[in-house]
Amino acid sequence: MRAGLDKDPHAVARMFDGVARRYDLTNTLISAGRDRRWRHLTRKALDLRAGELVLDVAAGTGVSTAELSRSGAHCVAADFSLGMLRAGGHRALPRIAADALRLPFADEAFDAVTISFGLRNVLDPDLALREMARVTRPGGRIVVCEFSTPTWRPWRVLYQRYLMRALPAVASRVSSNPDAYRYLAESITAWPDQRALAERITGTGWADVEWRNVTGGIVALHHAVKRAAAVDREAAAAAERAAAAERAAAGPAAAKRDDDVDREDVEFPP
Ligand SMILES: C[S@@+](CC[C@H](N)C(=O)[O-])C[C@H]1O[C@@H](n2cnc3c(N)ncnc32)[C@H](O)[C@@H]1O
Repeated sequence: MRAGLDKDPHAVARMFDGVARRYDLTNTLISAGRDRRWRHLTRKALDLRAGELVLDVAAGTGVSTAELSRSGAHCVAADFSLGMLRAGGHRALPRIAADALRLPFADEAFDAVTISFGLRNVLDPDLALREMARVTRPGGRIVVCEFSTPTWRPWRVLYQRYLMRALPAVASRVSSNPDAYRYLAESITAWPDQRALAERITGTGWADVEWRNVTGGIVALHHAVKRAAAVDREAAAAAERAAAAERAAAGPAAAKRDDDVDREDVEFPP
């Protein structure tokens, strides 16, 4: 894939197929080894218990899933790049070829879900968040580990320079596809900041969203809990009450018009 923010799923999968072989090594080099800490903190934030079932979406080579497995939970790696899944073949993990936008799992199948450095690459992040909510049991957890916006201005400026100048230079030496790392820099710059991502997570079936900045906000870990069905029912009931109040405020004329429609429907079926 050429530089630029074309997130066409075929192009994204091809791009990751192309960098798969050296993905883990390149990541560790361009993050100066910080990637290990980010993964460790993601596992801690998920607060996994032995025996729980966890889905790692956009798991790539499974490097993120392998860290989660240290908790004793059963961890499943899902990704749509066969190249990435194959490159992680040496890891003893259940691996599934799956699109984050149409997860091949039953509703409420998992205790927790997570996505590390994947949501930014997905064509429709809101849909991916909703899919992850669908496959998580009520009360289950999500952690999104993603690049974010450094909070201290001088650090932010320095980081922007690194992203736009140094990172492509480093990647051109170590990666088989330097364009992929120009895309990385651009996609990070275009990605919502901590608060904006929290709002998107809240709007897609999750509650109690909190985030933690890591490495000065270069990465943020967003944690949330799957809203219970009762909360959704309460929201629907509140919407119905508001609509009824609006109808009542509009007066009997409006109520009569509604009656007329009902009667017409009964007396003159199509
Ligand atoms: C930067 S890698 C992250 C891999 C791993 N989670 C990690 O922490 O290193 C992003 C991954 O997202 C995957 N991806 C992007 N869009 C996807 C989608 N719609 N469905 C499944 N995987 C997707 C890519 O194939 C790639 O393996």
